Amino acid sequence: MGSMMSAREVLALAPVVPVLIVETLAEAEPLGRALVKGGLKALEVTLRTPVALDAIRAMSEIEGAVVGAGTLLTPADVKAAKAAGARFGVAPGCTETLLKAAKDEGLPLLPGAVTASEVMRLLELGLDVMKFFPAEQAGGAALLKAWSSPLPQVKFCPTGGISLANAPQYLELPNVLAVGGSWVAPKAAIKAGDWARIEELAREAAGLKRAA
Ligand code: 3PG
Repeated sequence: MGSMMSAREVLALAPVVPVLIVETLAEAEPLGRALVKGGLKALEVTLRTPVALDAIRAMSEIEGAVVGAGTLLTPADVKAAKAAGARFGVAPGCTETLLKAAKDEGLPLLPGAVTASEVMRLLELGLDVMKFFPAEQAGGAALLKAWSSPLPQVKFCPTGGISLANAPQYLELPNVLAVGGSWVAPKAAIKAGDWARIEELAREAAGLKRAA
């Protein structure tokens, strides 16, 4: 729980937003704790597993964690995420139906955009902070750099194919607030319950420098 934050404020919490696929409810709490301990406070739990909503509930109890829901595709997803305590939402793309649902529910949303026209459409609808997905596949840091000149007022959270190695290329751009990525919570480490490893990966990620 906690006060309402804007998407921009959520992205200010840390340079990296972990994108999480939680398979069992038991792993939610130690996973969240390890990430927060390592310095990553905004956590995106994707609605891709049956326990995702319960995982959001469990992680929301962790002190310092700001838990959001990812992979929001429908208004029903937005409602369920909000009811589970999500403080922000992330979507791979955007529809007006989804935006309206997020507005109605009071859930700050990071919708995805991948062309200049999609960015402009979201701007028209009043959003100037969005996800850029899939970042590496769609043109990477070079594409965002090109947008920073004609579209300087729009800030991004690029996600998709980002790692500790290429994150700096994004974070040095003036239009990138934070990056998203699953590399800080590898499936094998979660399965093995290697929370120390995840804390270490989080700490490395939290130490990345950013320009914006
Ligand atoms: C996703 O939605 O799966 C994210 O974009 C994560 O991408 P990544 O696994 O390449 O970090």
